Amino acid sequence: MAKIIEVNNVSKTFGKGENINQVLNGASMSVEQGEFVSLMGASGSGKSTLLYLIGGLDRRFDGNISVCGQDIGSLKDKALSDLRLKNMGFVFQFYNLVMNLNVQDNILLPQTMNGKKKSELKGALDEILEITGLTAKRKAMPNTLSGGQQQRVAIARAVLGNPSIILADEPTGNLDSASTEEIMELFRKLNQEKGMTILQVTHSEACAEYGTRIIRLEDGKTVG
Ligand SMILES: Nc1ncnc2c1ncn2[C@@H]1O[C@H](COP(=O)(O)OP(=O)(O)OP(=O)(O)O)[C@@H](O)[C@H]1O
Ligand SMILES: [Mg+2]
Repeated sequence: MAKIIEVNNVSKTFGKGENINQVLNGASMSVEQGEFVSLMGASGSGKSTLLYLIGGLDRRFDGNISVCGQDIGSLKDKALSDLRLKNMGFVFQFYNLVMNLNVQDNILLPQTMNGKKKSELKGALDEILEITGLTAKRKAMPNTLSGGQQQRVAIARAVLGNPSIILADEPTGNLDSASTEEIMELFRKLNQEKGMTILQVTHSEACAEYGTRIIRLEDGKTVG
């Protein structure tokens, strides 16, 4: 199996001088293509920080990170944003939907903003609405949806472009247990049926159980 994410001896600090905060201190981990991995650790242990570094959202770090075989530390901005757009889908705790756009326009937004035509995306849109169980809600406005439904819209938006990797930061952090199960079942389906590699940050052992492996962050390093 190919390693799709490789983190090698990564260190990351915030602040300077007396206020320096060494968040990651020689962290290493890897994820193989097709895995569904959960990243766990205490609050403040650096889970989100590591996920954002892997996602190329913050490039100031020491060590090496490669994603889909590309060393993200040495990519030019344009190449990094292409890598993100084609290969990574991001899901956060807060759904970040555009409230004055309906469900399908929210899902289409990242691709249409990058110049794709709605007509080209129709097939992919219909498929992802079906997979996420949102077909009947395609014209609904976000404020008429439950939290779980809104998160499904955010996931559909993240995976419309058929990324190889989903990076999710506490995707069920705001949801009740029924919606949490729904979202985890959806991730399992995307992992098993679409072959998407998933790296999720979670505080919940129950959510981590949906995945295939747990990586823990402790004292700036990964264990297990
Ligand atoms: N942009 C930033 N500027 C300064 N410090 C930051 C920044 N982002 C994170 N930190 C610090 O880095 C440390 C790790 O934060 P991070 O958000 O990665 O933790 P986490 O494991 O995701 O925690 P939680 O489970 O609470 O989400 C914390 O001490 C935090 O205060
Ligand atoms: Mg966090």
